[in-house]
Amino acid sequence: MAQRFKLTGRVALVTGGASGIGVGIAEVLAEAGAMVVIADVDASGAQAQAEAMIAAGHDAAAVTVDLADEASVVAACAEVIAKHGVPWVLVNNAGVQHRELLLEGSVAHWELNQTINARGPFLMTREIGKAMVAGGQGGRIVNCATTGLIGQAVHGLAAYLASKGALAGLTRASAMELAEYGITVNTVLPGGVGTPGSMGAKGPPPEGPGRRITPLGFCEPRDIASAVLYFATPAARYVTNQTIAVDAGFSIS
Ligand SMILES: NC(=O)c1ccc[n+]([C@@H]2O[C@H](COP(=O)([O-])OP(=O)(O)OC[C@H]3O[C@@H](n4cnc5c(N)ncnc54)[C@H](O)[C@@H]3O)[C@@H](O)[C@H]2O)c1
Repeated sequence: MAQRFKLTGRVALVTGGASGIGVGIAEVLAEAGAMVVIADVDASGAQAQAEAMIAAGHDAAAVTVDLADEASVVAACAEVIAKHGVPWVLVNNAGVQHRELLLEGSVAHWELNQTINARGPFLMTREIGKAMVAGGQGGRIVNCATTGLIGQAVHGLAAYLASKGALAGLTRASAMELAEYGITVNTVLPGGVGTPGSMGAKGPPPEGPGRRITPLGFCEPRDIASAVLYFATPAARYVTNQTIAVDAGFSIS
């Protein structure tokens, strides 16, 4: 692999790395040479994933973080920086994806989505962004939203899509404010991926265009991870505020 596509000697911090798409992202970044820190509210799951990656010959560690708790985010980011150094790449992947119909929507569900899917990435970006700026080496931030934002949606996603729209807005704002420090911020839009989170999502039946059969079939976590990897590499240094949809061809279905 050309050096500019490698992450050797660089630290990657992946939220939600204990499950689903986050596992794929953590493994693909590690295969590209990164030391990967799995950050998750599921402490034992994060530890198990880090140990599995170490057993596979990679460099990995775990940190417990609850994105819903500002103090937890601040402490976890400080711990990562103290133990492993300033991350080169932050992947804001963790999220919740339960459904609730718009006309039956509750404030609790709305706030849960905003808190974990939008405020959590904001706090992570603030904490790691400060360290990246102080470190002076530039960096990469990749936000995982959803192809629901461009039409691959089902019923019951009002709160979810609003939170992912906020995340897409965060990409734009942080790309602008961090560009002068050589830090890029980009968005990956995952299509449907069979994960514990998507298969276990609660709520009304997932009816809507997101149910359409896509020309290329169902995505795997590693398909999403490959787009994350591109944004994370030194090769992508002039690419910021951009979006890649990994949607198995939904737009031509
Ligand atoms: N799976 C899909 O079809 C799909 C499609 C589009 C977008 N996405 C997005 O991709 C991301 C990953 O989804 P997934 O399907 O792998 O989900 P998942 O539920 O399988 O994994 C999510 C991980 O995030 C962690 N997490 C949840 N709340 C947290 C919190 N408060 N603090 C820290 N960690 C927390 C969970 O413990 C879990 O390990 C999410 O942002 C999701 O919205 C998924």
